Amino acid sequence: MDLGLTGRAVVVTGASSGVGLATAGALLAEGAHVAACARDEQRLAAALAELPRADGARTYTAACDVTDGEAVSAFLDGAASELGGIDGVVNNAGRSLLAALGDTTDEQWREELHLKVFSVLHTVRAALPWLRCSDCPAVVNINAILAKQPETTLAATSAARSALLNLSSTLSAEYAADGIRVNSVCLGLIDTGQWRRRYERSGSSLSWREWTAELARDRGIPLGRLGAAEEVAYAVVMLLSPRASYITGTAIDVGGGISRYL
Ligand SMILES: NC(=O)c1ccc[n+]([C@@H]2O[C@H](COP(=O)([O-])OP(=O)(O)OC[C@H]3O[C@@H](n4cnc5c(N)ncnc54)[C@H](OP(=O)(O)O)[C@@H]3O)[C@@H](O)[C@H]2O)c1
Repeated sequence: MDLGLTGRAVVVTGASSGVGLATAGALLAEGAHVAACARDEQRLAAALAELPRADGARTYTAACDVTDGEAVSAFLDGAASELGGIDGVVNNAGRSLLAALGDTTDEQWREELHLKVFSVLHTVRAALPWLRCSDCPAVVNINAILAKQPETTLAATSAARSALLNLSSTLSAEYAADGIRVNSVCLGLIDTGQWRRRYERSGSSLSWREWTAELARDRGIPLGRLGAAEEVAYAVVMLLSPRASYITGTAIDVGGGISRYL
C-alpha cells in the first residue's frame, strides 16, 4: 500500500538513535524528506548518512536541544526552507529518569517536565505556520505506557508522561479545525540506547539476549521480549500517513501486551 508520504517533509527530534533513527529510516524508505535533530550533530549526521532511502528523499540535520525554544524555532525555520515546508512532526527526543519519589529533587522534576512537555510545545508552536499550509498535517508524540500505568521507580518520568498525554489530547482538539491530527504512540520496553546503557551500567554477567529475556519475564511482557525500534516506527509512520486521515486524539500502545488497563 502506498502510504502517500512521498515528498512530504517530516521533522523527527532525537533522530540519532533508537526510535527516532528507526522512524527517520522508515520515512526515508517511503520517500519522505526528513528534518532530524539531536544535541550531538556529528553522531546524528553519521547515523542518517547510513540510512537507505527512496529516490529523491532528502535529509536536513541540525544540532538542537529541544528544551531550548529558540533553538527549536531556528531548527524548524531551517528545515522548512530546506525541505519546502513541514507536513509532520514526530516529538521523540528524550530519556527517562530512573528515580523513586524520595530520590527525585525539585530540579529533576522541573527538568523532566521541561523535556517531556515544553519541548513538545516548542516544536508544535514553531511548526504551526507550516502545518497549517500542509494538506495532510500530522503530529505524533512519542510517549510511554508509564503515562497510564505509572511506575514507582520512575516517579517524575511517569507524571511528566501523563502530562504529555493530556497535552496531546488538548492539541488534537485545538488544531482539529486546521486539519492537524495529533496522536501518541506509547512505548513499553523497546531495545534502544536507553536499555543498552542500563545493561552496561548493571555490570551483569548475562549476555544482552539473556538479560533482556529476564527483564521481559520480570516485567511480565506477554510477548516475552523487548520491542524493536523498527516496530515502533511502523506505528508512527502509519499515523503520519494521509491514510490515517480520520485518526486523531488517540494513543497507540506498542508494548508487547504489557499494559494492564482496558
Ligand atoms: N526505549 C524505551 O524502552 C522507551 C520506553 C518509553 C519511552 N521511550 C521514549 O522514546 C523516546 C526515544 O527513546 P529511545 O529509547 O529511542 O532513546 P535513545 O536511543 O537514547 O535516543 C534518544 C534520542 O534523543 C536525543 N535527545 C535526547 N535528549 C535530547 C534533547 N534534549 N534535545 C534533542 N535531542 C535529544 C538523543 O541524541 P543526543 O543525546 O545527541 O541529543 C537521541 O537521538 C524518548 O522520548 C524515550 O523517553 C523509550
